Parts: sequence; structure tokens; C-alpha cells
Amino acid sequence: MPTDPLPTSRHKILLDADVGIDDAIAMLFLAGRPNAEIVGVGSVHGNIPSELAATNARRLLELCGLDDVPVAIGARRPMAQPLATAEWVHGADGLGNTNRPAPKRGPVAEDAVAQMLRLTREAPGEIDIVAVGPLTNLGLALCIDPSLAERVRSVTVMGGTIIHEGNASATGEANIWHDPEAAQLVFSAPWRATMVGLDVTQVTRLRAAELAEIEGLGTKRSHFAIEILAHYLDVYQRTFGARECPLHDPLAAGVAVDPSYVTESLRLAIDVSLAGANRGATVVDRRSWMAPAANDSERRERVGGDVGAPKGATDSPALVTIPMKVDGPRFVRDLIDTLKVGG
Ligand code: BDR
Ligand code: CA
Repeated sequence: MPTDPLPTSRHKILLDADVGIDDAIAMLFLAGRPNAEIVGVGSVHGNIPSELAATNARRLLELCGLDDVPVAIGARRPMAQPLATAEWVHGADGLGNTNRPAPKRGPVAEDAVAQMLRLTREAPGEIDIVAVGPLTNLGLALCIDPSLAERVRSVTVMGGTIIHEGNASATGEANIWHDPEAAQLVFSAPWRATMVGLDVTQVTRLRAAELAEIEGLGTKRSHFAIEILAHYLDVYQRTFGARECPLHDPLAAGVAVDPSYVTESLRLAIDVSLAGANRGATVVDRRSWMAPAANDSERRERVGGDVGAPKGATDSPALVTIPMKVDGPRFVRDLIDTLKVGG
């Protein structure tokens, strides 16, 4: 599990997404960042069915003139529970019922798992995975080839929550709740992983002033963003009582290409609840004398014996970086800038 800071160079992004409204805004952000290159997109079930998510990814890439980026269809259902989608949040078409024309080209023949394994074999140590949907494709890829974890430069997941209430159940965030078994596989793999959860995404929002600014940009991308956000804003208005919306997936994309948006974070092992009412919750041990220990022996040393060492824990639990505070205003400014690209 690499821990040294990554150089802030160019990022080759493999995006894994259930392309609904905030996924689409994340794609616009990545497409407009000079230090990010989207090298492939894999679709996954979640907000909408996987085929439709792939169609939306191609719609987005076409809008941004990125017609060469391959889009592969991924998992059509979770590993161990039935498919559940959220059209009430993202619209029947996943893009706020804007019913955009069908994209000109189709998906590639390869599936999203095969694409992930191939791209990371072709460029070992170079690919940053940004996963903003349920983690089924990543979990399946790890089952097929566990050495994937060593080939990937970093993995940034939008999902989970530590303190904030859940949004799919009392304690579960949607992306994790849609496939808890896959999430457990992803959070226990020995890669450089970051979990951008509701603690930071729910409070990083587009509000009236920023929406007006985006509307005033008059670019193709800003126009598209405003169009698809209308439905999302209607949904969140019921929760927030104001016309504003959280930036879940865009913030995860932001943290992937610029970790300095994060101002406070935890580094802990994450256990995903697989049973009961808390199925899909991301559980961490935040007790101060447990938290900074990298492994069991370090923990035992600190407490002077076996007291407190979690039963059944491995010698080296996979530690995940969990942002707890971000510079939201700077991120939102940068997001708006990316919508100016392309005229
Ligand atoms: C996550 O769930 C989906 O609805 C969004 O696209 C985002 O990835 C937020 O919990
Ligand atoms: Ca998503």
C-alpha cells in the first residue's frame, strides 16, 4: 500500500460510473482539467441500468469532443442483491429527463472489467481509477486478478460516510449500499485508496450564486450542466429547502486530480457492514489509540499487549484515506472554470 505523496503530474483517468446527473458533472470537470486525461470509461448499474449509463457517458464525451475515449459496458447488477436504480433522483434517462439525442457511436465490444484489466496491464503504475458508482466492476476485476491492486496508481471512490447520516439507508451511502460485497473487496485491497464520502460531498454544494454564474457562462458545457441540473435541484430542494445540490461525484473527481482540496483526513481501515439494518454502512475504528496504528503489531505495542486488537484482523489492514474536510469554495471555483472550456 503506497503512502508517499503522488507527484501532481498529469493523471490518466479510468472512470467507472453509473452516469447520472452528478456523474455527468464530474465528467465535464475531468474533461476540462488540463492535468487530466480520460483514457477510458466503464459503466455500472446504480443510478440507472448499466447500458444507459454507458450511453450517457458517450453523450458526455461527444459533447466534449472526446470521441476517441472508449466506453465499455460494465456490471448490470450487484454481486449479492437484486438491482435497484434511482431514476427518481436522476430522471428516467439518467440526465434529468433532458432526452438528449442518441450518441453517434456505440460502446466498445470489451466489457468494463476486461477494459480495466487490459488498460492497467498496458500502463502499469500509470492509471488513476475514479469510481463514482457502485463498486461492482472494481470488485469483479479484483476477484479475477488480485494483482490489479499493484498495477493501479490510485483509486478514488465516491462513497461511504463516517459521521454524516446515510442517503440510501439510515447509515448507508448509495454507492456502497448498492453493492456492499464489492465495496468490501475494494476497501480491503492493498492499493492507494481514497474514500470521498458524504462527510465532505454533502456539504460541497452548488448554490444560487454559482448556478447563476454557470448560467451566465454561455458555453456548450455550461448550458448542458444547467439543463441536467434542473431535475437534480428539484429533488434536493425537497431535502435542503433551498435550490442547491451536493457535488458528490465532481468532488471525488476533484480530489483524484488535486488532493490538496482535502484539508483534513483520516487514514483508517474500512469495514463494510454486510448484514442487518446497517448493511452497506462503512464502519471505521476512530478511537484515537487505535487510529494511527498501521498494523496489529504496532497496535499491540502501543497498548502493551493484545488488549484492543480486533479479533480476526489481518497483520496489515488496508488503510484508506478518508477526507473529512475540504476547501469547498476553491473546488467549486475550479469546477466552474472547467465549464468555460470549449466555448
Ligand atoms: C452517489 O450516489 C449517486 O446517486 C450519485 O451519482 C453519487 O455517485 C451519492 O451518494
Ligand atoms: Ca454516481
